[in-house]
Amino acid sequence: MQSNQYFYIMKKIALITGGNSGEYEISLKTAENIMNKIDRRFYEPYLIHLKGNEWTYTAEDGRVVEVDRNDFSLLVDGKKITFEAVFIAIHGNPGENGRLQAYFDMIGMRYTGCGMLASALTFNKFYCNLAVSSFGVPISKSLHYFKGDKIDAELVEREIQYPCFVKSCNSGSSVGVTKVHNASELASAVEEAFKYDSQLIIEKYLKGKEVTCGVARINGKIQALAITQIVTTREYYDYKSKYTDGLHDLITPAQISDDVRDKIFRYSEKLYRELACGGIVRMDYIVTADGTPYFLEVNTIPGQTAMSIVPCQIKYLGMDLTEVYSSLIEEALQNDIF
Ligand SMILES: Nc1ncnc2c1ncn2[C@@H]1O[C@H](COP(=O)(O)OP(=O)(O)O)[C@@H](O)[C@H]1O
Ligand SMILES: [Mg+2]
Repeated sequence: MQSNQYFYIMKKIALITGGNSGEYEISLKTAENIMNKIDRRFYEPYLIHLKGNEWTYTAEDGRVVEVDRNDFSLLVDGKKITFEAVFIAIHGNPGENGRLQAYFDMIGMRYTGCGMLASALTFNKFYCNLAVSSFGVPISKSLHYFKGDKIDAELVEREIQYPCFVKSCNSGSSVGVTKVHNASELASAVEEAFKYDSQLIIEKYLKGKEVTCGVARINGKIQALAITQIVTTREYYDYKSKYTDGLHDLITPAQISDDVRDKIFRYSEKLYRELACGGIVRMDYIVTADGTPYFLEVNTIPGQTAMSIVPCQIKYLGMDLTEVYSSLIEEALQNDIF
């Protein structure tokens, strides 16, 4: 006799967490939240932990199994487990800068979010800004230096002025970022930025409201989610204010005019498309007093902890996080492998 029950084939998904950056702990929390929300009717998630050269899965009985990097598979109790896709939940290196994406491309494994080029390009603040301004979105003026270059203090004074921001090109969480108030602080800020990368930018200070806009491709359509305003009690949104309770406030929707909101939505959707983004990303801006949103950066693996901005925006819109994650996985499953 035929039953009325539906039978689904569960898809095995690897949820990869950890990583080699200051955002390691946040990545663990991001993955924990995704693990809790993933739709168990359709997906069987395996949490894979990556740190340095150790890529492991911890089985229910506590046994630690190493990932076979030839095809990103596991051998558990003599049985080979392969995945249909990887859900990347690593912030910073190597989940957000294109490295894992390139590896998965090489072995023909599908994954959520942006591809290798979009990840690598957007992770470098200087090259990302070049691309963004070519698409007609305002950015702050900056100078680009490599380690070993002589920094012309007079040029900085003339072209950028003070205060300004010195930032490592490839970093995150405000690590390697310093607000420089005058010429005497420049050298130590440069030294700090070069601790984390071999390139830096010296960027003109933008005075205004800091806001961030989630963007996703949901059921095939690029959609700006909502705009959240970041208010901090510190001078800017530095590492301490990001990760200490009570030092910042997130306000959704941001207190900006409808015109500015619509402009940020338009910019964000355009950039998502032109930079060939995938999955959910977050674009940060500073809106100056005249209502111009200046692009700051794209976060291609934004936080997905219970307290993070993107889950708050999804909640604000009345959308269901479980459905959004399913949509990301389905998008990944449809990606071409060339
Ligand atoms: N040009 C700027 N003008 C004003 N504030 C800035 C500028 N650049 C960065 N900031 C501040 O520094 C923070 C970190 O800079 P960001 O470019 O986002 O680097 P990260 O990738 O480390 O988050 C921003 O959230 C913002 O508060
Ligand atoms: Mg930032």
